[in-house]
Amino acid sequence: MANRLLMGIDIGTQGTKAIVIDEHGNLIVTGNCSYDFIVPQVGWTEQDPRQWWNAVIKSLQQIWNQGIQPEQIKGIGVSGQMHSLVLLDENKQELGNSILWNDVRTQEECIEIEQIIGKEKSKFITRNAILPGFTAPKIQWIKKNEPKRYNNICHVMLTKDYIVYKLSGIFSTDVSDASGTSLFDVEKREWSNEIIEALDIPFEWLPEVHESNTVVGGVVKRAANITGLLEGTPVIAGAGDNAAAALGNGIYEEGTGVISIGTSGTVFAPLKKLPPVKEEQALHTLHLFCHCLPNTWHAMGVTLSAGMSLNWFKSTFSQGTYDQILEDIHKIEAGSEGLIYLPYLNGERTPHNDPHARGVFFGMSYNHTRDHFTRAVIEGVSYSLKDCYELIKQCNVIIDTLYVTGGASKNIIWRQVLADVLGRKVKVFEEREGPAFGASLLAGLGVGLWNSPCDFPDFFKKGEETLVNHANVKRYQEGYEIYKDLYIKLKDTFSYEHASNR
Ligand code: XUL
Repeated sequence: MANRLLMGIDIGTQGTKAIVIDEHGNLIVTGNCSYDFIVPQVGWTEQDPRQWWNAVIKSLQQIWNQGIQPEQIKGIGVSGQMHSLVLLDENKQELGNSILWNDVRTQEECIEIEQIIGKEKSKFITRNAILPGFTAPKIQWIKKNEPKRYNNICHVMLTKDYIVYKLSGIFSTDVSDASGTSLFDVEKREWSNEIIEALDIPFEWLPEVHESNTVVGGVVKRAANITGLLEGTPVIAGAGDNAAAALGNGIYEEGTGVISIGTSGTVFAPLKKLPPVKEEQALHTLHLFCHCLPNTWHAMGVTLSAGMSLNWFKSTFSQGTYDQILEDIHKIEAGSEGLIYLPYLNGERTPHNDPHARGVFFGMSYNHTRDHFTRAVIEGVSYSLKDCYELIKQCNVIIDTLYVTGGASKNIIWRQVLADVLGRKVKVFEEREGPAFGASLLAGLGVGLWNSPCDFPDFFKKGEETLVNHANVKRYQEGYEIYKDLYIKLKDTFSYEHASNR
């Protein structure tokens, strides 16, 4: 077996995946470990960071059990769910649960931050609105609501940075993930001293920020003993999961794009440079972040409950597996006979930035079966991704080739619905294990296996196409109009419902 292998580890919201690839981009082995998140209150989501570390240990065990030798691994890249806040105390012990990216408890803190910094100024520096999923509002929430925890903070980091720390003993982050903290100057690719000072956050809490493929350290002895990795194996800074997934699908140049359907759903388009700030006013919920390659950025829209909608539906209404629940939905006509689903189970980020929005099934009648509901879930999530896609188009970003990745992309029906809802073909790569593949490519760049993506072998040549079924397009255009209208009509009711539940 080849002696120059790379490892990618992705810390997702519903599980951790570790993969090993060779220098030709072939997937050699995978290991994984699933888990859930906690919902302590409606709108809140949390995870214990130690659960992620245990999942890494278990996933690596599976890798060794398949015959990989630790000395074959030349570099390790870690990617992870973005924005989720991890805190350590002075003894480097975890300070409670991580508040996750899909937690929407911090609406008040977002408004407060915009008042402290100034709405225009914060947008000018961070290039983004301050949104409840982002990291700084979570820090402010803890300051206000859990002063004891706040007073013990010594280190602030994001999900993959915590794993990089556990492996290497180094506190670091990368530009793609730092972009989603609301503490980062996205154009300059550095922390914003101005925002950090204005929010009274001690600068020493924050890790050093690097370009994503920078080697930040080597596996330390303690981690080597626990994980089976070889002490000293280089570890790179890594990237947020969306940037890593994009790279893993060859999406790093303007003109391409990728839709990723995991727990969240994202539409992602690389940018050569950031658009001027003024033109962005209408695009409040569109994210503008650093990409994981130097001098590149990206635009992104985020659906909070994408794959998570189907996961919720399956575990609530069926005993079966995903394959079983999806088996017969091709028999249901496009549009699910008028049944429409809004995927706002935990509020929505793009395009509404509405933490009070909730999921809806609209238009139920006697003829609807469970297969109609399942299909409506997939269609509703696809409408939400169309919302994100349309915002990116408004930003004048051209996407000539559109890929789809993530767990759901493996399902042909979901890919077909997406192509028909968007009215354009989508492509998929077999064996691209989402962000973990991108993370291992970054590791290869970091350890000098390749100098730039131009040196990658032919990973990105092929890709299976799903063409538009034109018979469905009109049906979905009508469905999309009703979908958009439903939110407009229900918006005030969602807020009213929230106020009366207080
Ligand atoms: C991106 C976001 C999600 C998470 C999912 O802004 O919040 O896509 O990264 O892990």
